[in-house]
Amino acid sequence: MNFKRNILITGGAGFIGSHVVRLFVRKYPDYRIINLDKLTYAGNLANLEDIEQEPNYCFVKADICDFERIYALMQEYRIDGIIHLAAESHVDRSIKDPFTFARTNVMGTLSLLQAAKLYWESLPEKFEGKRFYHISTDEVYGALELTHPEGIEPPFTTTASSSEHHQAYGTDFFYEDTKYNPHSPYSAAKASSDHFVRAYHDTYGLPTIVTNCSNNYGPYQFPEKLIPLFINNIRHRKPLPVYGKGENVRDWLYVEDHARAIDLIFHEGKTAETYNIGGFNEWKNIDLIKVIIATVDRLLGNAEGASLDLITYVTDRAGHDLRYAIDSTKLQKELGWEPSLQFEEGIEKTVRWYLDNQPWMDRITSGEYEKYYEEMYKGR
Ligand code: NAD
Ligand code: TYD
Repeated sequence: MNFKRNILITGGAGFIGSHVVRLFVRKYPDYRIINLDKLTYAGNLANLEDIEQEPNYCFVKADICDFERIYALMQEYRIDGIIHLAAESHVDRSIKDPFTFARTNVMGTLSLLQAAKLYWESLPEKFEGKRFYHISTDEVYGALELTHPEGIEPPFTTTASSSEHHQAYGTDFFYEDTKYNPHSPYSAAKASSDHFVRAYHDTYGLPTIVTNCSNNYGPYQFPEKLIPLFINNIRHRKPLPVYGKGENVRDWLYVEDHARAIDLIFHEGKTAETYNIGGFNEWKNIDLIKVIIATVDRLLGNAEGASLDLITYVTDRAGHDLRYAIDSTKLQKELGWEPSLQFEEGIEKTVRWYLDNQPWMDRITSGEYEKYYEEMYKGR
């Protein structure tokens, strides 16, 4: 079959990547979607079971750092668009093992950039109709002050979201031109990769685009991250480790809204531009944790507040960024994107999904799926 486009999505077996792959496979039957993933501990093909048989989907197990292999795959699949999500993504792991983060996030991105450049330059039309879309994070901007610890209601200096909870913990936000100031090895590696992407545009004219998004939540997130970890711990009556005093603030966006933004920007974003993506939905960790507890308890039929005693304050994360808050006005004004879900609705859907999909969670937490994939790909 001749496809209209051949799009390489890296990291498609991970949390956000799986939502992007699903959206593209379903929405664009005339595109071939090539999901390239190394299947690290965070990659899980069970995230894509519902679409893996689709005729416009294929999976390739590969490491983005393997330049020769990536270059060969670019030719084999005649790739004309890349949506790059593959990365090491957990801050706590980056504190313990920064080298892996530099390798994957920096060298892996560089290897993809170089493979795209060389392959596209070899074609008669060169960069015409091509796109290299790099998915980054708001964490590259560093941390904001918490100038209003009790929170303030809109209007802030910026547009309010559709969320009921639109409240901010300071008057400052991350804008597209906010200076980079990463603090963790994770965000330093992501910042470095962003610089390489922009350098490839400025130096070689590669048609790049970068987006920086706030914290995502929703189905299929690996349960080392706050929300799925806490939902699972509540279910099993295990302690909920709150770092420091639980006063850090994050801006939460439902993952399908991020995937929709990626689709829109991939198709309509301007080359060489940066877009911030966020929910105007700031929560102090401890307040968010109380919402999660209340929702899980209600859905499990527990008495109100039954799991509050699981909250356990633990030593703070080293270099723990105090507040992240994205201003996504540019994306809203230029491309008309808005978060579609109110937070209350998103968190209810999310908790329900984890409770209804306990086998998915059990396979990960028992380590079974890692053994399964090792077996499956032995010798390949
Ligand atoms: P994730 O950890 O769930 O998934 C990462 C995926 O990348 C996994 O499937 C893994 O197997 C794959 N991978 C890792 N190293 C690889 C390599 N060397 N070669 C090929 N594949 C490799 O991450 P996520 O939360 O889905 O994040 C995806 C992207 O979005 C990352 O670039 C991250 O920085 C960015 N981001 C995440 C968030 C968030 O809240 N999760 C917010 C903003 C931006
Ligand atoms: P996380 O989900 O790891 O995302 P990020 O560090 O990229 O923002 O953590 C979200 C917030 O929750 C962050 O402020 C750290 C905090 N946190 C805890 O308090 N306890 C935990 O066990 C985890 C994983 C995170």
